[in-house]
Amino acid sequence: MNRSVLGTVGSPLVQVESPPGSIVAAKVESRNPGGSAKDRPALAMVEAAERAGVLEQGDTIVEPTSGNTGIGIAMVAAARGYDAIIVMPESKSPERQQVMRAYGAQIDLVDGDISDAKDHADELEATEDAVQLRQFENESNPRAHYETTGREILDQVGERSIDALVAGVGTGGTISGVGRRLREEHPEMEVVAVEPADSAVLSGREPEGDSFQGMGPGFVSPNLNRELLDGVETVTIDDAETEARRLAREEGLLVGQSSAASNLAAKRVAARLATDTDVPGPDTQTNLLGGVPETPETELPEDAPLVVTVFWDSGERYMSTGMFE
Ligand SMILES: Cc1ncc(COP(=O)(O)O)c(C=O)c1O
Repeated sequence: MNRSVLGTVGSPLVQVESPPGSIVAAKVESRNPGGSAKDRPALAMVEAAERAGVLEQGDTIVEPTSGNTGIGIAMVAAARGYDAIIVMPESKSPERQQVMRAYGAQIDLVDGDISDAKDHADELEATEDAVQLRQFENESNPRAHYETTGREILDQVGERSIDALVAGVGTGGTISGVGRRLREEHPEMEVVAVEPADSAVLSGREPEGDSFQGMGPGFVSPNLNRELLDGVETVTIDDAETEARRLAREEGLLVGQSSAASNLAAKRVAARLATDTDVPGPDTQTNLLGGVPETPETELPEDAPLVVTVFWDSGERYMSTGMFE
């Protein structure tokens, strides 16, 4: 029995349909208690602020977020006895707002993007005497992924080598923390960032849009460790949403836009690595990593490249966008 819901953070690693001769596996983060990968940094940032004496019982936390961090913070705040004010661009899905309100958080909507939300949170921090956790700069964000997500993946793959980590970038906490931890064990591993085609700042382009929830903030986040990156892939919102529908209907995996985009990019990288290593295929269904074998049960060569990606949250958080219709 867990003493608190906060003790249940963690997620499975699930093989998804993979290009011939390769394995793509996704960390299914919707299985965390607050429903996304952001439970991890939310908890770590709150605990670090408590340790530093910055946050005390009854204090108010304020944070700008496109949604999942806000939900994570609202959940941790409820479980730990804090008030929470979440500042969000009004373009983000209403489900996210409803979930935060359900946890008892106050929501402040701003006209504009995440940069405008950051400005408003700064004002509240000064006027309301609230504590801002600053997910874009707070080193507890990547550290949470280093210590939990990264460690879990290593445990879940066992003796197998990992050939690439392919993941979307918002604050950069996930790719930087997981990338650093996995590289310690697998120094040759590639780390590939994924960003929206219309907000491709890592690819050196000017941001033109804000189409993805959670991915592509339109600036390079201080928490992104660019030195870890070997490459950047871009994905359009249309391709991502088509892939999200396919994942739900053909693989039973209900995920959001950034997860589907990461899956598309992970498959590109896996196909390239499989060609490079010339591993025989095809094998798209074998559950090599999951324990319980699924049909058809086929041996995959030990040297089939393994690409790990991240599915941040559930498609249920995107229903109002109409993307599954
Ligand atoms: C849905 C979604 N995808 C991707 C990301 C990117 O994760 P990170 O901020 O760790 O780069 C986030 C972050 O909030 C997210 O909510």
